[in-house]
Amino acid sequence: MTTAATAESDADANADADDTVTDRPTTLRGRLVALAPLDVDDAELLHGWRSDPTAAHEIGIWPRPLSALRARIERDVDNSDRDDFLILLPDGTPVGHCAVFQQDFADGSAELELMLAPGHRRRGLAVDALRTLTDLAFGELPLHRLEANTHTTNAAALGTLASAGFTHEGVRRSACMHRGRRHDVAVLGLLRPEWEAQDRPRAWDV
Ligand SMILES: CC(C)(COP(=O)(O)OP(=O)(O)OC[C@H]1O[C@@H](n2cnc3c(N)ncnc32)[C@H](O)[C@@H]1OP(=O)(O)O)[C@@H](O)C(=O)NCCC(=O)NCCS
Repeated sequence: MTTAATAESDADANADADDTVTDRPTTLRGRLVALAPLDVDDAELLHGWRSDPTAAHEIGIWPRPLSALRARIERDVDNSDRDDFLILLPDGTPVGHCAVFQQDFADGSAELELMLAPGHRRRGLAVDALRTLTDLAFGELPLHRLEANTHTTNAAALGTLASAGFTHEGVRRSACMHRGRRHDVAVLGLLRPEWEAQDRPRAWDV
């Protein structure tokens, strides 16, 4: 959930790019979705989703060629400070991407990012994916604090984060430049004791 500049794009061309069903092994299963490690061959799918105007605006994706995204995913596979996942429906249909990045095991902190394909939004999948990701981060890693940053106007992300238990901690005023003007960025956080206090089945119980 970072912010920077954006890409121009064609959403329609990408709305159906997520229809390929895969039978890949998943890492964790939520109530509605499962997470599988992102692989280099997912670059095209991700490139299409990142070209959706809403995602490009909210996440701040700089337009880069598919080859650069492939190379970055390849580099990140060996990067010990981030883990990227494809979000899958139970039948294996890939519907989005999420990641735990900036993992700092000295401070016990990390950031999260999340994006769903346009045709799969508003169905509760994002909250389920985010809960599953927090289960992975707190259940498998010695982290104490998860943080997410998003435009203060991104109602969908703010709603998703609130439903997954994140607290609104503050606003980084005028923190990013986009479409010719400055934007405020909301900072949200979830601490380990707050995650422990959540009364819901964990991903490994589902
Ligand atoms: C943010 C995003 C992942 C949310 O996905 P989603 O599938 O629509 O989310 P959900 O259906 O799980 O809904 C989550 C909550 O947000 C609310 N919400 C979703 N979209 C909303 C919108 N456009 N306006 C207001 N509230 C919205 C839902 O009502 C729900 O609230 P509830 O749990 O209280 O019922 C998705 O919109 C997206 O990929 N956006 C582009 C990328 C992006 O902004 N990423 C985030 C950070 S920078």
